[in-house]
Amino acid sequence: MFADVNGIRLAYSDTGTGSPVALLVHGFPLNRSMWDPQRGSLRSMGVRVIAPDLRGFGASESGPPGPLTMEQHADDLVALLDVLGVSEPIVFVGLSMGGYVGFALWRRHPERVRAFVFADTRASADTATAREDRLRIARLAEEFDSPQPAIDSMLPRLLSPHLRAGSLPERLVRGMMAGSSAQAVANGQRGLAARVDSSSTLSTIAVPTLVIVGEHDVPTPPDESRLIAEGIPNARLVTIDQAGHMSNLENPEAFNDALLAFVETARE
Ligand code: MLT
Repeated sequence: MFADVNGIRLAYSDTGTGSPVALLVHGFPLNRSMWDPQRGSLRSMGVRVIAPDLRGFGASESGPPGPLTMEQHADDLVALLDVLGVSEPIVFVGLSMGGYVGFALWRRHPERVRAFVFADTRASADTATAREDRLRIARLAEEFDSPQPAIDSMLPRLLSPHLRAGSLPERLVRGMMAGSSAQAVANGQRGLAARVDSSSTLSTIAVPTLVIVGEHDVPTPPDESRLIAEGIPNARLVTIDQAGHMSNLENPEAFNDALLAFVETARE
């Protein structure tokens, strides 16, 4: 399905009719299909599940050239909720870049959120070295007109060491990355490099929050999740065994146990 928001066509799926409404926000450079192991389970507990492709990714249009900022993504999500007639505050579930978007959304539209799930993400901004690396990959993606430079630099660090090349999560993640355009990789990296430090946002988050992290997460290690959980007044931290950065794909059973139990409490 597509919706016209903020001058572009945004692709999304919208299943179930219940309450609360869960908004599932994907990581970089991925798309909404990363939430396939969660959507059915959430729907079967009577939750309405909305999963968009963020601007530039999946089947969504990218809009004007330039960095894909967390603020723009947050505004697109609120515009999508408006188009879909969702006025009740949502349960925001974001993994990695999805979490960065969640922090921006809280700063700009806090009234739209009733609970947060921050999975495999960090509140801090990039170090100077990490920023340089992103800009280098952005240039390479443009030069070769391919997402491959992002795949080469990211994929080896994304999954738990026990998952071999060719395992299902590895194939799914590789496929999503390979399906991203060079432009989405380049402008996505520039938007990520420009994101602000969200550490000072944590203490302002006044809704129940679940923080999830894979025990082997390398890009956003468990210590980063601990900082998020300690900084948000009403937060709980769950560590997922046998999982790295893509904890929802690597150990969906454990991820869903934590997610569904939390969403059940958000009903009350
Ligand atoms: C992601 O999974 O969204 C990325 O690892 C985020 C990042 O590059 O910081």
